[in-house]
Amino acid sequence: MHTNPSSPLLQLAGLKVAYGGIQAVKGIDLELYRGELVSLIGANGAGKTTTLNAIAGSLRIAGGEILYAGEKIHVFPAHKRLRRGIALVPEGRGIFTRLTVEENLRMGAYSRNDKAAIEQDMERVYTMLPRVKERLHQTAGTLSGGEQQMVAIGRALLSRPKLLLLDEPSMGLAPLVVEKIFEVVQSVVKEGVTVLLVEQNANLALEFSQRAYVMESGKITLTGSGAELLTNPKVRAAYLGEAA
Ligand SMILES: Nc1ncnc2c1ncn2[C@@H]1O[C@H](COP(=O)(O)OP(=O)(O)OP(=O)(O)O)[C@@H](O)[C@H]1O
Ligand SMILES: [Mg+2]
Repeated sequence: MHTNPSSPLLQLAGLKVAYGGIQAVKGIDLELYRGELVSLIGANGAGKTTTLNAIAGSLRIAGGEILYAGEKIHVFPAHKRLRRGIALVPEGRGIFTRLTVEENLRMGAYSRNDKAAIEQDMERVYTMLPRVKERLHQTAGTLSGGEQQMVAIGRALLSRPKLLLLDEPSMGLAPLVVEKIFEVVQSVVKEGVTVLLVEQNANLALEFSQRAYVMESGKITLTGSGAELLTNPKVRAAYLGEAA
């Protein structure tokens, strides 16, 4: 595997994904460098979730390439991509509602057998997410939405990801809880994890991201630094609820 730090950790080149005959992702290019927090914003149905699922391996691609650390990983099944360090926190969180918080977290480490390191990672998650630690033995289905989102992120961290894909972590959460989630995402980035964040909450996503891509109808239509896109009149009109 290439480890050149100046080459992208993740590169999508002409990526296409289709459902039956319908193309949902129509040849997109996207790059993600180590240590970055990059967001992907766009309206409902733009193809954001489809893109994340294609990277994680739960969807087959119809064209183009997905390069991870220089390697064509689109040929690998999802579990192999997870072992290589790509973890997805799916839309809707994918919590096991009947399991306890602790059991949910440990599910994230199911493919690992380095017991001591797993315990270290559990401790790291407890430090990062104190609210989760307080509720280890609670059934996950009885947690609040924000707590469930934290458990979903914690579970993904238990796989020791290098690349974390977050699909709308703020969905359905109150503003204060959303801020808390964004703080958690920032601390994950500080720990050295590269993050690709899909968000409807464009304002916060752009504020927190180094760079961002705007997706419309399966294509990338704009890219730039978070700050640039925040002041871009087209972005402001389309995603930040301002009159054009
Ligand atoms: N399983 C599926 N079968 C057929 N079409 C699908 C399927 N999943 C998604 N699509 C279609 O693909 C397109 C992109 O959907 P996708 O879920 O990737 O959008 P999104 O940007 O994540 O939207 P949202 O912001 O609402 O989550 C949409 O037109 C959607 O209807
Ligand atoms: Mg989606």
